Amino acid sequence: MAQFDSSQMKKIGVYASGGDAPGMNAAIRAVVRTAIQRQLAVVGIVQGYNGVLEKNFIDMDLRSVANIIQRGGSILKAGRCVEFMKPEARARAVQNLREKGIDALVCIGGDGSFTGANLLWQEHKIPIVGVPGTIDNDIYGTQLTIGFDTAVNTALDAIDRIRDTAASHDRLFIIEVMGRDSGFIAIAAGVAGGAEDIFIPEQPFQIDKTIELIKRGVARGKNSSILVTSEGVKPGRAYDLAENIRKHSGMLATVCILGHIQRGGKPTAIDRLFASRMGSAAVDHLRAGLCDIMVAVQGENLTTVELSVCLKQKKHVNRALIDLAQILSN
Ligand code: F6P
Repeated sequence: MAQFDSSQMKKIGVYASGGDAPGMNAAIRAVVRTAIQRQLAVVGIVQGYNGVLEKNFIDMDLRSVANIIQRGGSILKAGRCVEFMKPEARARAVQNLREKGIDALVCIGGDGSFTGANLLWQEHKIPIVGVPGTIDNDIYGTQLTIGFDTAVNTALDAIDRIRDTAASHDRLFIIEVMGRDSGFIAIAAGVAGGAEDIFIPEQPFQIDKTIELIKRGVARGKNSSILVTSEGVKPGRAYDLAENIRKHSGMLATVCILGHIQRGGKPTAIDRLFASRMGSAAVDHLRAGLCDIMVAVQGENLTTVELSVCLKQKKHVNRALIDLAQILSN
């Protein structure tokens, strides 16, 4: 695990990066208040790596993070930064951080954000601790990322509402949830929402079994069904699925794409709780001289994982839960 001399550390920076996720504000609040409590100054960096490049810095105090624990989004904004992939941009970023007197960073984000963080340490020895924040829950080494629980509950609420219409009109619905590369949201919302079947980006459509399941249900007197799919590479995968089902069975499906409503809204208790714990722990790890790591959730406890490990390994979904959904929706 990487270490640095933290005895001279006086000021830290905090930023949210990548897609926003409910609970990021709770993490920012925890970083700011823990740091100030421990006699460190804190700078908020606006819009992730873009803010470092543009010197978009805000000096934070205890009141800067008042009344935000319940708010979705990020008071420091969020965002991806393509330019940061260039070594010369990172060198400029380091200059800006030094000019502002920032000795270390807390990065709240997903794997793209951690790639930048890891490079800042490897190339320039800027100490960084990561806090996993993405609704996708697709970061290796942590059971939970900030925003996932809220996003799943938002999707679930939508599934419950759509079920009313599906039942009233004897319809087959396909509900598309977020998750470009991973099916964590689809699986959690699908099982909890009683979906007949779940489709994830990790595997191509296999619809024969799905059609069989739906037909068997209809034969038993079941009049409506819900399928849940991740969006995959780009939103709209549900339409491909509907077309596939129509071609192979003649059945018509109504598509509902949930999209960005899953990214917003007030964070659940679970997201607020873990965001608060992880944000605070990130500051304490820096104080202990530890860096190039991510704070992670394992069961009820927090642990740490090296950033290079999170970035190299892929977190796998539990495909057995798809079988479970099929069995339980019978
Ligand atoms: O990574 C979070 C996420 O919401 C994914 O689930 C989704 O595929 C992607 O971001 C959408 O990104 P954007 O908001 O840039 O369209």
